[in-house]
Amino acid sequence: MKSAILIYYSRTGFTEQYARWLEEMTGCPAVAYKDARKMDLKPYDIVLFASRFRAGYIQKMKWLRKKDRSRKLKAVLATGAAPMGSPEAKREVSVSIRDERFGCPVFYLESGIRYEKMARTEKLMMRLFLRLMGEQDNRKYQHSYDNSRREYLQPVMRYLQELGAAEEEKNL
Ligand SMILES: Cc1cc2nc3c(=O)[nH]c(=O)nc-3n(C[C@H](O)[C@H](O)[C@H](O)COP(=O)(O)O)c2cc1C
Repeated sequence: MKSAILIYYSRTGFTEQYARWLEEMTGCPAVAYKDARKMDLKPYDIVLFASRFRAGYIQKMKWLRKKDRSRKLKAVLATGAAPMGSPEAKREVSVSIRDERFGCPVFYLESGIRYEKMARTEKLMMRLFLRLMGEQDNRKYQHSYDNSRREYLQPVMRYLQELGAAEEEKNL
């Protein structure tokens, strides 16, 4: 089996939760961005990257590109508050694929909002988004909620099995 590493960037915990679930399911180590910065990626055949959408962009993608000099990136997992399968989520993914020229699949994972863990500037940004959205559409995002589901990782698992980076579906 090929050796894989999952690097994740998370501020309020959703992306970390998905990274931990995938680690349990595959045995592939999940390493936080702050620790991965010092790591050498040479021993790994496959690099996976999980991060969060912020104002339509997947955060730390530029950093990852520089870090992944040997082009081992095989999948990007992007968490966001847009509902799973919604036009917003699909648009975000296709725009980032176009802009970033990933050359690998991007899996969207619905998460939620966690105001209690947000930095002050992010709370302010959220307030601005909500105002722009209008009262009818912003109701869902006014309070913290968690829509993340372990089963959303099933397409990722199937893809990793095809790549030879995961053996069987454990703990699903
Ligand atoms: C300032 C800000 C901007 C956001 N922008 C988006 C966005 O453009 N699209 C989206 O789907 N979710 C957006 N979200 C929701 C986050 O992507 C979501 O909460 C994410 O899972 C947080 O990841 P983390 O908990 O790992 O930090 C935004 C959240 C904040 C605080």
